[in-house]
Amino acid sequence: MSTVARVTVPGDKSLSHRALMFAALGTGQSVLRGVLPSADVRSTAGVLRALGVDVPLHWSHGDELHITGVGRRGLREPTVDLDCGNSGTTTRLMAGVVAGHRMGSTFVGDASLSRRPMRRIARPLTQMGATFSFAADDGLPMTVLGADLHDITWVSPTASAQVKSAILLAALVSGVSARVQEPTRSRDHTERMLAALGAPIIVTGDTVLLDPVDQLSPLDFEVPGDPSSALFLIASAVLRGQPIDVCNVGVNVTRSGALAVLSRMGVTLTLVNEREVSGEPVADISVAPCAGLRGVTIGGDEIPALIDEIPMLACLAAYAEGETRITDAAELRVKESDRIATVVSNLRGIGAAADELPDGLVVGGRATSLRGAVTTHADHRIAMAFGVLGAMRGNAVTLDDPACVDVSFPGFWQALTELEQAR
Ligand code: S3P
Repeated sequence: MSTVARVTVPGDKSLSHRALMFAALGTGQSVLRGVLPSADVRSTAGVLRALGVDVPLHWSHGDELHITGVGRRGLREPTVDLDCGNSGTTTRLMAGVVAGHRMGSTFVGDASLSRRPMRRIARPLTQMGATFSFAADDGLPMTVLGADLHDITWVSPTASAQVKSAILLAALVSGVSARVQEPTRSRDHTERMLAALGAPIIVTGDTVLLDPVDQLSPLDFEVPGDPSSALFLIASAVLRGQPIDVCNVGVNVTRSGALAVLSRMGVTLTLVNEREVSGEPVADISVAPCAGLRGVTIGGDEIPALIDEIPMLACLAAYAEGETRITDAAELRVKESDRIATVVSNLRGIGAAADELPDGLVVGGRATSLRGAVTTHADHRIAMAFGVLGAMRGNAVTLDDPACVDVSFPGFWQALTELEQAR
């Protein structure tokens, strides 16, 4: 029997962005532990620096960050473009923040980010009183002229935490109220952090109501391991029949949909040592050796809680007994790449059966040995999902851009190798 691999993963990306932003907007000194030192989070740090907040240039996983907030409306007009790199969360959340400051800011990013839809945040923020202009039809470069914003009630057509958070942050800095309703509740980290800071926020079903906030306390926050990163190591262990414990991972239900899917696929997993840390549910995830996977259907309301995990789940499904059908996931088309097209073309390219649906994909299952070159489109989750397949004995998969994993999981390749060696 193989020994249980005990691993940890770097800090949660969504929480790291938010922790930096809330620390910047607080009054007094915030203390943050476990902030993810990845390219996306460095983009948020860089944007905050350009807006006058003293955020360190470099930090590593174990470092404690001390950030002195400038107050909820204390950012300085930038003298440079706000470079968000590859990060949609940086762009959309910070657009909400600057929309509530009387100043102009221009957001730019890499080729992938520049193609992603930004009018989805411009619409509600314009209704609140900000002015947006786009160099092209949508996407970046995007210029935001901030103002004294007013209250908003917004019914969002998509379950998007980035849209919801942009509105909440705009209302927060402006001291106005916001009511946001979503078709299905998206990740609720912004709401939890606001509540932990004592902001008057009420969540009822799929609706969030934030009342005007006067001033924001400093934050004392510990970022747990990222469940999206954990899935790549869990998947690798599952495919090789290896038991694994991933310690100190966020298990917020608005993020943990992939765990329920793994169970349906035949994986036995248990949450151990469940606790709440800084207002977020955290646990160790213990996964038993897996004898074989079953194909499943994935769709409906469960999608928002696993949207980022679909590339890995689809790659796992290539090894399942029977077909896997994923629907209601059209949002995948506007992620770092068109993840429906990218996953399907790469699965086919290495010899697995897969087909596109307008809002999802079908994966055939029963793959044997997979061989070929993967085009990542510089998409970190595509690189890691196919990297996991490439690490299986008998497969020969090459990636055009392995370094792009640094967007969310610096050290991923080493972690994957160490996991294999832990057998
Ligand atoms: C995120 C929200 C999700 C997710 C993204 C991170 C966040 O995007 O896919 O990786 O931190 O708020 P949407 O809000 O567009 O669904």
